[in-house]
Amino acid sequence: MSRRKIIAGNWKMNIKPSETAALVKGVAEATKGFANVEVVCCTPAIDVPAAVAAAAGTNVGIGAENCHWKESGAYTGEISTGMLLDAGAKYVIIGHSERRQYFGETDETVNLRARAAIAAGLTAIVCVGETLEEREAGKLVEVIERQMNVGLKDVTAADCEKLVIAYEPVWAIGTGKTATPDQAQEVHALIRATLAKLVGAETAEKVRIQYGGSMKPGNAAELLAKKDIDGGLIGGAALKAADFAGIVAAAAAE
Ligand code: PGA
Repeated sequence: MSRRKIIAGNWKMNIKPSETAALVKGVAEATKGFANVEVVCCTPAIDVPAAVAAAAGTNVGIGAENCHWKESGAYTGEISTGMLLDAGAKYVIIGHSERRQYFGETDETVNLRARAAIAAGLTAIVCVGETLEEREAGKLVEVIERQMNVGLKDVTAADCEKLVIAYEPVWAIGTGKTATPDQAQEVHALIRATLAKLVGAETAEKVRIQYGGSMKPGNAAELLAKKDIDGGLIGGAALKAADFAGIVAAAAAE
């Protein structure tokens, strides 16, 4: 089963609207030779219009970093899926560990957001991953299974066409500590097996599972060589077009 690799940048709360076009154009230029890889920049919502304009006619897809599950209403500070689509976004990150850690995101709200995003036609990049404390307490399997089972409750096999899962061990995010390829592969296999119980093995085989956590040009190839690692969700290294393109090149060579 060959799954098209997907490399997505997660800009987090970096890059201003006025800086967006230069980075998107830089990414497009540096990755245009790698048509076999799906290339995505997920930007702060306020950058999305500039990112979409800069990406027009290129290989780069644009996404956001969060969305609300209601279409409209009294939800001050939130952004709906319809707003993202209207601005030209095609992807949205859901349940990033920073949102879980700092903004009260739970598996239940991940589920609401993911289902709303998919129903609206966005591709949802749903993040799961354990903290160091959970890993050391032997709770890795329990945590991942819970995040998957609750976070993806009532997601159907048909919905999976618009689903990407990102495995991001919290201890590897922005720390320079990467999971070893074997450690990552072990969890990716667990994620696929858990997904298979939810939507069937055939569908689970088709869903891309990204690794995220200090992925960079120097370690991307060995991670992406693993059977169940189908791409990357890239934080720090997505802020420089050359670094990001180095990871896309590694994915293209797989
Ligand atoms: P990092 O972030 O690549 O800077 O570790 C990854 C992420 O949080 O998505």
